[in-house]
Amino acid sequence: MSTSQTSYALSPGARCLIGGGGVAVLLPAKQRLDGLSPAQVDVLRRLNAGPVSFVETIDSETQALLHTLVDAGVVSITVSLDGRDLYTLRPFRRPPAARPDPDTGPVEISRFTIVRKHGDDVVAEHPRSWSDIVVHDPAVLGVVTGLGAAHVDALPTWVVERLHADLYWTGHAISPGAERSDFATRSWSPHELWFHRRTTVGDRAAAFADFGPTRWADGEFEPLPARRDTVAGEVIALPAPDLDELQRDDLPLVTVVEARTSVRDFDDADPMSIAQLGELLYRCGRTRSVRTVDANRAVPEELPSRPYPSGGSLYELEIYPVIRNVEGVAPGMYHYDSYDHALRLVAPYDDPAVQRLIAPASLTLADGQRPQVMLAIAARVGRIMWTYEQMPYAVILKHVGVLTQTLYLTATAMGLGGVAQGYGDTAAFAEATGADELVEANVGTFVVGTPRE
Ligand SMILES: Cc1cc2nc3c(=O)[nH]c(=O)nc-3n(C[C@H](O)[C@H](O)[C@H](O)COP(=O)(O)O)c2cc1C
Repeated sequence: MSTSQTSYALSPGARCLIGGGGVAVLLPAKQRLDGLSPAQVDVLRRLNAGPVSFVETIDSETQALLHTLVDAGVVSITVSLDGRDLYTLRPFRRPPAARPDPDTGPVEISRFTIVRKHGDDVVAEHPRSWSDIVVHDPAVLGVVTGLGAAHVDALPTWVVERLHADLYWTGHAISPGAERSDFATRSWSPHELWFHRRTTVGDRAAAFADFGPTRWADGEFEPLPARRDTVAGEVIALPAPDLDELQRDDLPLVTVVEARTSVRDFDDADPMSIAQLGELLYRCGRTRSVRTVDANRAVPEELPSRPYPSGGSLYELEIYPVIRNVEGVAPGMYHYDSYDHALRLVAPYDDPAVQRLIAPASLTLADGQRPQVMLAIAARVGRIMWTYEQMPYAVILKHVGVLTQTLYLTATAMGLGGVAQGYGDTAAFAEATGADELVEANVGTFVVGTPRE
């Protein structure tokens, strides 16, 4: 007969402040516990010192205390069999309901459950759960991933039932079909819900630990310079607009905002001029200045300024105009040097990767026409990932949004037409530029040109 063991351990940062007269306070939640028996106080003392294990049955007084601690979300629970750890429930907030009975009925693993390596642990995580499940034993992994059939024999039935109940309790398992029949759960892709959960403040990031602008890399890695390495190709200097004149003569903001629409049909007989392209890029994307922070470090931190806003003033975005029809510029894929206000050739227009890059945009334009100019927007991700933890990619996508609107409005003010693109061919961008996607990735696309009347 196998022996089961359940161990309870206070979560990192949690502890019990034990007073006299059967009173204790759970920290950090400051939850007061009254009327504790000496045996219960003893369990709390032992928990303060480390994990407390219970073999088989637990007396009712202790059981009641453990329920309180579990309800408060301050203890992890490890289930073991004959001294072999099977799994641990590791909560990061209070469970919404009490633990169900082991005979939960049929369940299936949620399609939102993600199993991954985390430090030395293998962890099942779920974006809607209140608890991770640390997997210690391969047989448990079989059940958690739903591949269990072959492995279930390795565990006694009651362990499998208990694990199913724990998976159900923690939201990692659901009633069969429940996620498919509900529009809300059906419509979310696992990676999108996971991204939403992990890049926002909420259950996990409530204490802001390892989240946000922590500057986690400081001391271990040097910050990236604000300016991208210069692209080696041929340089084309761009004309700059006269901002004083524009401040006098440009359309009022309200007129521009009200006139802005998406344009998908362009006039190839009357294309944009190099001066217009220069004006658009200057008004939207140029680097106006660079502030150096803490110049005493070996590699200083540089914070540029551009016309659109950027989290942390880090400005990781780069613009790559793919030009087919602009008067005064030969067709090709260029990098916009926002410091020199110049274009540098990256790849010829007929490069197969460049052709693949423009293909998705062509599909959305009238009669499948190829864009006069397609601005591929890329992020030098390390600029922002040096500072931000867990959410920099979400911030990058927000930056694509603010740059996109700046392009929309400026193009409208200039009498040009533009349309944003929902997705792009990131592999084609990587091939055309030769950039490692982990270093510089294509994150947005904007088509611009002269509208057909
Ligand atoms: C982020 C974003 C992505 C878009 N993706 C596309 C796209 O891939 N293809 C397209 O034709 N229009 C795209 N659009 C344009 C929208 O269809 C357009 O803004 C919407 O229909 C409202 O019309 P309006 O811009 O003319 O006011 C996108 C707009 C945004 C802001």
